[in-house]
Amino acid sequence: MTTFLLPERPITSMDEYLATGIGGEGFKAAQAMGPAATIDVITESGLRGRGGGGFPTGRKWAGIAGQEAAQRYLVCNAAEGEPGTFKDRALLRANPYQFIEGLIIAAYAIQATGAYVCLKASFEREVEILTRAVQDFQVAGICTDCTVNIVAGPDEYLFGEEKAMLEVIEGKPPLPRWFPPYEHGLFAAAPQEGWEAGPHGAGRRTDESNPTLVNNLETLSNVPHILARGADWFRSMGTPESPGTIIATVVGDVVAPDVGEVELGTPLRDVIDVVGSGVAPGREVKAVFSGVANPVVTAADLDTPVSYEGFAGIGSGMGSAGFIVYDDTACMVAAAYRFSRFLSIESCGQCPPCKMGSGEITTQLERLENGEGTDREIEVIGGWLERVTDGNRCFLAVEEQRMVSSVLRAFPEEFAEHIEQHRCPRPAARPMPKIVDLADGHAVYDETFWRKRPDWTYDPA
Ligand SMILES: Cc1cc2nc3c(=O)[nH]c(=O)nc-3n(C[C@H](O)[C@H](O)[C@H](O)COP(=O)(O)O)c2cc1C
Ligand code: SF4
Repeated sequence: MTTFLLPERPITSMDEYLATGIGGEGFKAAQAMGPAATIDVITESGLRGRGGGGFPTGRKWAGIAGQEAAQRYLVCNAAEGEPGTFKDRALLRANPYQFIEGLIIAAYAIQATGAYVCLKASFEREVEILTRAVQDFQVAGICTDCTVNIVAGPDEYLFGEEKAMLEVIEGKPPLPRWFPPYEHGLFAAAPQEGWEAGPHGAGRRTDESNPTLVNNLETLSNVPHILARGADWFRSMGTPESPGTIIATVVGDVVAPDVGEVELGTPLRDVIDVVGSGVAPGREVKAVFSGVANPVVTAADLDTPVSYEGFAGIGSGMGSAGFIVYDDTACMVAAAYRFSRFLSIESCGQCPPCKMGSGEITTQLERLENGEGTDREIEVIGGWLERVTDGNRCFLAVEEQRMVSSVLRAFPEEFAEHIEQHRCPRPAARPMPKIVDLADGHAVYDETFWRKRPDWTYDPA
């Protein structure tokens, strides 16, 4: 199996990066062929965004580069706030240089005015690694005139949502704006709302729209390798619709939670075994959540290929390949409650049906989990699931809808048991898998989660 993003030993200096034979070669190739041809190579490679949506990267770059604009910006999303994922931090620890080279290539390809890398201020180790690597690039003279702005942002999940990320860069709280970054970019002065509209009208591109490219850190880490070795080399791995490799995180009820690089198309069952060392002896996988944004995957679908089309084929989504595994002792009502609580707390409330609906769904799930629920609670949840996405500015509300409905659909008998027995039949407590650190087969989770309140303050108790 070919892997190239996660080296066996971390690359900790520019000299080590150059010694790999790849370091600097991608940027050289891009400069030799020019911005348009660079975008063509990325398009031909079939690279898709690793931030969760899987959008074709070349098409995204071409969309930004093709707009007539006085300013264009590049933003790298390394906020990594979704439960079950640690891959961007693992990549920064393993080789920050490939990412910075990818960032420089992307900035060159779209002719960006400025480049911003956003990660959480609490990722202190990664902020330090990144800062040093940027300095190393400047000292090495590979890119003397590139300025990389590192933005250390808040812990909120929404910081990773691209429209909220632009707000944070502009010094505001992580509340998603209306229009996407390619329409209303960084520092855009064009009107956003219809009622603010001047002569240009809402959402229309103007000289001040500043189209902005937002790409995930893993997406950009692939770029220098593709430019140095070619689109065909990249397509020799993975599947035709999902070429390349993916950095998977496997946590939950597994023997050794970890991060690992696998070819796209590898069966989910093998990813759980290879990366997370499988479930404990005598146990079986009951369910896998790919983050909190997608429908649950049940044991019947463990042979699903880990690819965009593979997960779409079973009505789910691969997300950012952060897999939370539950074995046959886990309670699915508790899992739905845990993830719904996360989403409702992290909802910003700009769209009332999202904040109120996810909050109400969480309350009813908690009642069911505690054995206090009846069919009435299920009905209330069903009612809110239909409305929670009304008028939504961002995808978080859809995540709540997809995730909770899928658990209700896949495990109706577990809800019925809670109602009939007036208690949880599988009462083992499990952590909220929001990862603070992950090394040597051991995951550290964010214990402050249960104290976080819907207004984003923390219960001191
Ligand atoms: C609530 C929410 C949180 C998100 N968090 C992240 C994140 O932490 N990292 C990330 O790369 N993308 C995240 N995304 C997706 C980004 O909005 C965006 O699609 C992505 O950064 C685009 O990069 P890509 O095309 O390289 O995948 C999130 C989306 C939503 C709706
Ligand atoms: S959908 Fe939810 S999280 Fe997204 S902007 Fe609206 S209220 Fe905020």
